[in-house]
Amino acid sequence: MWIILLAIPFILFGLVAFVGAPYVPSHRKYVREAFAKLYKLSDKDLVVDLGSGDGVVMRVAREFDAKCVGYELNLLLAFISKVLARGDKGQKVVVGDMWTAKLPEDVTLFYAFSVSRDVNKLMDRVQRYADTSERTVKLMTYGPVLKLKKPSRTQGAHSLYVFVPKTLQSRQA
Ligand SMILES: C[S@@+](CC[C@H](N)C(=O)[O-])C[C@H]1O[C@@H](n2cnc3c(N)ncnc32)[C@H](O)[C@@H]1O
Repeated sequence: MWIILLAIPFILFGLVAFVGAPYVPSHRKYVREAFAKLYKLSDKDLVVDLGSGDGVVMRVAREFDAKCVGYELNLLLAFISKVLARGDKGQKVVVGDMWTAKLPEDVTLFYAFSVSRDVNKLMDRVQRYADTSERTVKLMTYGPVLKLKKPSRTQGAHSLYVFVPKTLQSRQA
């Protein structure tokens, strides 16, 4: 019985590493600084955290009155995130795969603390979102930077990228 109980977290945390970054939380102080200076977050924003862990990024985003949705594959982390949200209706955690989940329509900022292996996939995911919604969206990364796109700004380990939809790119050219 104990072996099964001990194996559950191991399975929950271990299996995720095959489909995305393992759990390591962003540093709250640096997220706060990034939302204050790198991208000035406000109540007009909807932030999507792709792989939201214990929800620390969403809780910081709420300090700026932005709405947030987090996608998290690990049930235990999603549960902790819900508990720590303390019933705050401005943040929501969805248990699901961030690569395939249906995203809200009005996202303004994506946040990702990813791994180098996944950065091209991440870039495609956000570009596809910009293309289908026909809106410019931004991506803030923490840690690994995109290999095929230059950030518009950086601050410490945070980088900010702008994704212009293909329809607007051709008009601007
Ligand atoms: C490096 S942690 C970052 C957590 C949080 N975003 C933060 O910055 O504190 C990455 C998180 O992504 C989750 N994750 C990895 N692959 C995922 C996937 N395909 N779909 C949803 N969540 C995923 C992991 O369980 C982990 O909690």
